[in-house]
Amino acid sequence: MNILVTGGTGYIASHTAVKLLAAGHQLVLVDNLANSNIAVLDRIALLSGQKPHFYQADIGNYAALSAIFTAHQIDAVIHFAGLKAVGESAQKPLHYYRENVAGSLQLLEVMQEFAVKSLIFSSSATVYGDPRELPLTEQSPIQPQSVYGRTKWMVEQIIADHCSADPSFSAVCLRYFNPVGAHPSGLMGEDPNGIPNNLLPFISQVAIGRREQLSVFGNDYPTADGTGVRDYIHVQDLAEGHRLALKLTNNPGCHRFNLGTGSGVSVLEMVDAFRAVSGHPVPLIICPRRTGDVAACYADAAKAQHELGWQAQLNLTDMVADTWRWQHLNPQGYQTPPAKLKEKL
Ligand code: NAD
Ligand code: UD1
Repeated sequence: MNILVTGGTGYIASHTAVKLLAAGHQLVLVDNLANSNIAVLDRIALLSGQKPHFYQADIGNYAALSAIFTAHQIDAVIHFAGLKAVGESAQKPLHYYRENVAGSLQLLEVMQEFAVKSLIFSSSATVYGDPRELPLTEQSPIQPQSVYGRTKWMVEQIIADHCSADPSFSAVCLRYFNPVGAHPSGLMGEDPNGIPNNLLPFISQVAIGRREQLSVFGNDYPTADGTGVRDYIHVQDLAEGHRLALKLTNNPGCHRFNLGTGSGVSVLEMVDAFRAVSGHPVPLIICPRRTGDVAACYADAAKAQHELGWQAQLNLTDMVADTWRWQHLNPQGYQTPPAKLKEKL
């Protein structure tokens, strides 16, 4: 298929791109580089042997989008583009609604204009908010607790309404749990700007000596060791989920799937796994809970297994080992000079 990938140089999209190129799809990537580095394109080319078309453009820009749809015959769109920092979304709600909601609306309108009828959308487990019952199924109550979470739920609703109005349109909303890990080659991974908000990038920067210690946000939750429990999912498994979701492109309607492993891992379990794999110490201090955090969150991913034939294959050790390899080989992320990387490889 000819697939347009929005947010194409981002963390999850870049791993998905390599997987889709290997499966024989043709890709057009679009990204405004708000949260990614152009160097990702060389890494994609290195891993896949192909350099996909790339446009530096904003999905909110009608002229740019329609020029891309005019230049390429697009069969399906995988829509990753968006902003994802929960704290920032509370400080800049209008910016988040503009980028995530209005941007998605613009994309859908251009797809309609060019009669492109298949969409895969990056949603998030954050739409469930504070779970009443675990594990979370696709039928669990929706109650997003942040501006970011509300943008994801709004876009899901817009997509569902569009599917109702156009019975030939097919959409798949993938609700990712906590994406972590990196490409097993060590050539691609997550490269957050500034101080990481998320647990695994923070731990790996502590282990490599870029940060002094991890702040554990609360050890008084009603969980086995008192720290927060999450369903971490390897980015390579997520990438495979997108490949399989393309099966539904000829199946009109709005489909929703949880993509998680179904197992919860606590903060302290993650720290232990990282110490074991890296052989490095991970100093930590216990701090108060972080506002907005929930005690535990993990998926029931049975629907994805039954309907897509998808199941997470990679375990916690794989997630940590691949993150560590990426961190170790690319101490400055994508700014690591290619010559240095070659030496290490
Ligand atoms: P990312 O920031 O690495 O990738 C998003 C990409 O979109 C970036 O390259 C960014 O430059 C680009 N972008 C942002 N706004 C854009 C715009 N208006 N026009 C064009 N490009 C734009 O994030 P990611 O972790 O790869 O996440 C991808 C998607 O998955 C996002 O929609 C995110 O909300 C969603 N998601 C992520 C997680 C997670 O923890 N990483 C969890 C659930 C859902
Ligand atoms: C966060 C977002 C969520 C988003 C997800 C993936 C919040 C409230 N939620 O989820 O919307 O979909 O990232 O991008 O921000 N932790 C520490 N110390 C740290 C960092 C994290 O103890 O320095 C703990 C947290 O309290 C939590 C666990 O580690 O228990 C995981 O945190 P994180 O990686 O930020 O993911 P979520 O909070 O699940």
